Amino acid sequence: MSSATLEVHLTDEDLTAGLREDVRLGLTAEPKWLPPKWFYDARGSELFEKITELPEYYPTRTERALLERVVGEIAQVAQAEILVELGAGSAAKTRLLLQALTAGGPLRTYVPQDVSGAALSASAAEVAEEFPQLNVHGVVSDFTATLDNLPRGGRRMIAFLGGTIGNLVPAERADFLRAIHDVLEPGEQLLLGAGLVIDPAVLVPAYDDAAGVTAEFNRNVLHVLNARLGANFDPEKFAHVALWDAEQEWIEMRLEATESMTVEIPELELTVQFDKGEQLRTEISAKFRREGLESELAAAGFTTERIWTDADDRFALLLAERR
Ligand code: AVJ
Repeated sequence: MSSATLEVHLTDEDLTAGLREDVRLGLTAEPKWLPPKWFYDARGSELFEKITELPEYYPTRTERALLERVVGEIAQVAQAEILVELGAGSAAKTRLLLQALTAGGPLRTYVPQDVSGAALSASAAEVAEEFPQLNVHGVVSDFTATLDNLPRGGRRMIAFLGGTIGNLVPAERADFLRAIHDVLEPGEQLLLGAGLVIDPAVLVPAYDDAAGVTAEFNRNVLHVLNARLGANFDPEKFAHVALWDAEQEWIEMRLEATESMTVEIPELELTVQFDKGEQLRTEISAKFRREGLESELAAAGFTTERIWTDADDRFALLLAERR
């Protein structure tokens, strides 16, 4: 019987402590903001899965088709023995990668990481069953703890797919890529998935779908604050906003208060006042240009070996080698 092990570096208490800090910081700031990582409790992860099936949300299926096309090449170039997947979530597209890396290469170990233990434990078990020859070792943690505890004893590839790199602002991105660089040995690799800058007429609906699933996903962060911090947000009094910032080249999601209100967050002994029309920023999702990606990777100490894009130039996969 194959099985998956699960390592938890992020307890419920750690999560709540991190949330408290972020919420105090973000909701006392002007303008108010919250980091996107707090969308993903069990309900938020489910809503994101639903988003990936929406007609408007092209990134997941575009990346998947691209991965399908080039995964053999990736396996050949990478020769990875250990695959670490950051933000693995439900790990649906990972199967493609695992198939190719086991069939066309020496892969022995798969290490999916996610902050959501619920999403991770189920998918790790499924992967273990599907790939009995693999050691599957899930890690529930944040990125930093994952990188600090990276497995050794084989040639490693770190995959960061889905375009999640876009959730980081440029300075965070630089730190993050540098941290990945620092834990890898020269010659080991990073596989990065990133959304490209495209026509806002296609981009914006991907973050503001007709069925309202993204709106519900956005409001989920308020449900998380209610559940974890005893806050009394009325999520229905917040409207979903998604806009394209042409200068920064990122999508910004916000929640707009539809009336003035006072919210209590007892666990922080914090009272937060919203004016009618006030917006709270909940996510940025940056889109990239090839040159920008290559130069950010170069600045972090990576050489870009390959860049693949889909036929419509909506999404890119990059294979980069640590120098
Ligand atoms: C999971 C971070 C890649 O930014 O496109 C989907 C999250 N936000 N719809 C993205 C998201 C709104 C998604 N990532």
